[in-house]
Amino acid sequence: MINSGKTSKGMNAKICYTILYVYCGLVIASCGSRINDRSADERAGSYYYEKYRPQFHFSPEASWMNDPNGMVFLSDEYHLFYQYYPDSTVWGPMHWGHAVSPDMVHWTHLPVALYPDSLGYIFSGSAVVDSDNTAGFSDDGNPAIVAVFTYHNQKLESSGSDLFQSQGIAYSTDRGRTWTKFSGNPVLPNPGIRDFRDPKVFRHEESGKWIMILAVHDRVHLYSSPDLKSWSFESEFGEKSGAHGGVWECPDLFPLKVKGSEGTKWIMLVSINPGGPNGGSATQYFTGSFDGHSFTPDGSEERWLDWGTDNYAGVTWSGIPETDGRRLFLGWMSNWNYATVVPTEVWRSAMTIPRELSLLYENGDYILLSKPVNELKILRNNSKTLIHGNKDFSGELDIALDSLKLTRCEAIIEFDLTGSNADTLGIILENTEGERLIAGFSIPGKNIYIDRTSSGNSSFSERFAGIAEAPYKAGDKLNIHMFIDASSAELFIDDGRLVMTSLFFPADGFSKLIIFSKGGEAILEKAELHEFASIWR
Ligand code: FRU
Repeated sequence: MINSGKTSKGMNAKICYTILYVYCGLVIASCGSRINDRSADERAGSYYYEKYRPQFHFSPEASWMNDPNGMVFLSDEYHLFYQYYPDSTVWGPMHWGHAVSPDMVHWTHLPVALYPDSLGYIFSGSAVVDSDNTAGFSDDGNPAIVAVFTYHNQKLESSGSDLFQSQGIAYSTDRGRTWTKFSGNPVLPNPGIRDFRDPKVFRHEESGKWIMILAVHDRVHLYSSPDLKSWSFESEFGEKSGAHGGVWECPDLFPLKVKGSEGTKWIMLVSINPGGPNGGSATQYFTGSFDGHSFTPDGSEERWLDWGTDNYAGVTWSGIPETDGRRLFLGWMSNWNYATVVPTEVWRSAMTIPRELSLLYENGDYILLSKPVNELKILRNNSKTLIHGNKDFSGELDIALDSLKLTRCEAIIEFDLTGSNADTLGIILENTEGERLIAGFSIPGKNIYIDRTSSGNSSFSERFAGIAEAPYKAGDKLNIHMFIDASSAELFIDDGRLVMTSLFFPADGFSKLIIFSKGGEAILEKAELHEFASIWR
């Protein structure tokens, strides 16, 4: 527009500079006002400041979200796709929403990647980088991302047929920005089984094949493929292993090096709903071996990745470079028991914080450890050690927060259990209304628990309030590491040996941190708090 032909080159340059100057001025002024007005924004409930809106967890701008899908890393970007229904805040015809991040912490929302079509809604699935172009979708040397997902055909389901779920693929050759569905879909038709979904695909280098793990009613099936387009059945797992209180969903299978040894084990994650240890949805895991054909478990007992009520359908990122080598996990922070009725407006649901999974061998047993990823440390914008050195106490100890805010933070509390004669100890988050979220360790009960009975609004579902418990054998110390956001707490005990994730909906944000000891004295060794910056500004 400026270069209309009527002005000379010099004039053009002048006008350009003037526009650039004014524009920069405006940008600087608006940035400044954003920063200075932050608390005004907060009060006004503007962008991402609605009541209960997570400040450092991923949530969609608006509408319904459930499972994370297609998590893949390519060209310095973490992709997160997710089950999404753009037209409502309750579940409906599923799309794949999409966001990208340089660090799994800060996210940029992108347009919907996959829309339902004549074959069905787009249910959960995964994505891989096809570096060797096995599917032939890349024509310019840039690798294609191939998404593998479930088609859910609502019409077929309503007609009483069992054949309503099949697997399809789609590809992108422009870093996930645009997607083409494969013309030969479905690539894995339904063999006559009602629950036949949630493909997680990975490359098995030893056999030179793609492997798909698929949830099939209350077990999993493994398939293999040379090209992501034709799939052959390999094996079944699960009939006599793990929990079977509900249908199995969203599986994953990957190798992990065993900490402190040369060995490697294969880990299988399987979400189950209902049938979780504290009601409704949860994710179990198995350790074992995989030979490119079948999975052999070390044992058949139930094991839970997260004992809380609110971590479901989580899987791990594919395409993480070997130089990084981490196994990175993210889950949907809700529970089908009440997900569609939680009291948020505008949007519904968030993801957990990203976590690194690792495997520890101890006392003849393998333990899957979950730890918050290191990248979260970039959010710390105000850190204080509130207590340092042994402090004997009983009853409730109100910790002076020294101006730090509890509503988005990371709290690290450590107890020395050796000289303690307490029955129960732990932490309480409290607000001015007296609502409380309690996380504790019961020594006689030998369990870690989160009590959200009096944590705020629970009237939306009879199944929400209550105490979630997990058996735990503590050592000499108990380290409580908690990530607290506007409506969630994620509890990591003793370096991720036990994890519990819990939602809550208080009338007002928690503002008091109380450490408690019941039935005797406890020894508090340290209390440290890191207030977080919001990821949305
Ligand atoms: C798990 C799940 C998946 C399914 C998707 C549908 O939460 O039920 O099994 O693919 O959600 O949205």
